[in-house]
Amino acid sequence: MLYKMALIGFGNVGKSFIRLLERKRSSLRKDYGIECRVVAIATGRHGLAIEPRGFQSKKVFTHLEKHGSLDALHRGKPLKDVIDLIQRSPANVMFEISPQNPWTGQPAIRHIKAALKKKMHVVTANKGPVVHAYRQLRRLAARSKVQFRHEGVVMDGTPIFNLAEMTLPATEVRGFEGILNATTNYLLEEMEKKKNLEAALEEAKAMGIVESNPAVDVEGWDATSKLCCLANVIMGADIRPSQVDREGIQNLTPERLLDARDRGYCIRLLVRAWRDGRHVRGSVKPAEIPLTHTFATLRGDTTALCIDTDTMEKITIIEGPGGPHQTAFGLLSDFINIHRGTQ
Ligand SMILES: NC(=O)c1ccc[n+]([C@@H]2O[C@H](COP(=O)([O-])OP(=O)(O)OC[C@H]3O[C@@H](n4cnc5c(N)ncnc54)[C@H](OP(=O)(O)O)[C@@H]3O)[C@@H](O)[C@H]2O)c1
Repeated sequence: MLYKMALIGFGNVGKSFIRLLERKRSSLRKDYGIECRVVAIATGRHGLAIEPRGFQSKKVFTHLEKHGSLDALHRGKPLKDVIDLIQRSPANVMFEISPQNPWTGQPAIRHIKAALKKKMHVVTANKGPVVHAYRQLRRLAARSKVQFRHEGVVMDGTPIFNLAEMTLPATEVRGFEGILNATTNYLLEEMEKKKNLEAALEEAKAMGIVESNPAVDVEGWDATSKLCCLANVIMGADIRPSQVDREGIQNLTPERLLDARDRGYCIRLLVRAWRDGRHVRGSVKPAEIPLTHTFATLRGDTTALCIDTDTMEKITIIEGPGGPHQTAFGLLSDFINIHRGTQ
């Protein structure tokens, strides 16, 4: 089966994904009968291009490095914008991997709607659409008889949504708690070494692990987005960030963290969701966690989620150091599941 792919966003994740596809090409063919070509790529400031015969990945990388834009690789009438690219591309599966907008989910929601209306399958690692439009996008996908998948939105490619969907049949998720933002873990660990938040943040920025707007990490917006994604999908909720009881780490001091340590606790940004009658409630707050708890043993770049179910009780999943490579795997696993669903 031949899949023609459109990539909306070609940053760390998009580039890792193309490399992963190259690396897995023969196994995709042999194990699944999948052939795939990337036929369209959109960026924000580095151009847009459609190549109906499929891009050669090496050429895309060298061209982008040399010219800073993909525009010259485009074949056909000039493209107006990303929606124009989606509408004119011959792709049958689109990967939405543009930057997240935790407050509105746009423009990714518009991109995904345009693709679903064109009967393209859609895979995203962008939290915004799952936070703000999950039900609507699922309905649209069902009407178009295509799939909308999003494994990469929480804990990169670690199977969370697929685990719940495919391996926990007839199960109610009663709630969950987790440490889902690795950057705040790192910041809090550094503050335990008596650094103030500003100094720890400067270090984290130099390491490239802070969102371009640091408030997204520090004020808990990223963790809140992840909470909404999980609650909306695995608990059937329909909640938005404004309904989550959110408090970031900006008011914590090294003294407060060290005081907790002396009493046998560490402070981490804890994400929690629970059922309250017919409603699902959520909170994202710094919490004191006993040093003997699994969550307290996580290193700065590690995340964990504990799901509370009515069949298996508690299941805890830990992801080691994550990043674009793991997120690229999330896209690949969704893509293969789409293929399985069409067989
Ligand atoms: N990095 C990770 O490990 C990770 C993990 C989980 C989820 N995610 C999610 O995956 C997505 C991509 O992450 P990333 O690390 O690849 O981000 P990134 O490196 O910042 O790349 C974003 C890409 O999107 C492009 N872009 C910007 N605005 C766009 C628009 N309006 N339409 C189309 N493309 C646009 C950018 O182009 P320009 O550079 O030209 O502006 C760039 O190519 C994000 O939503 C992120 O939250 C990432």
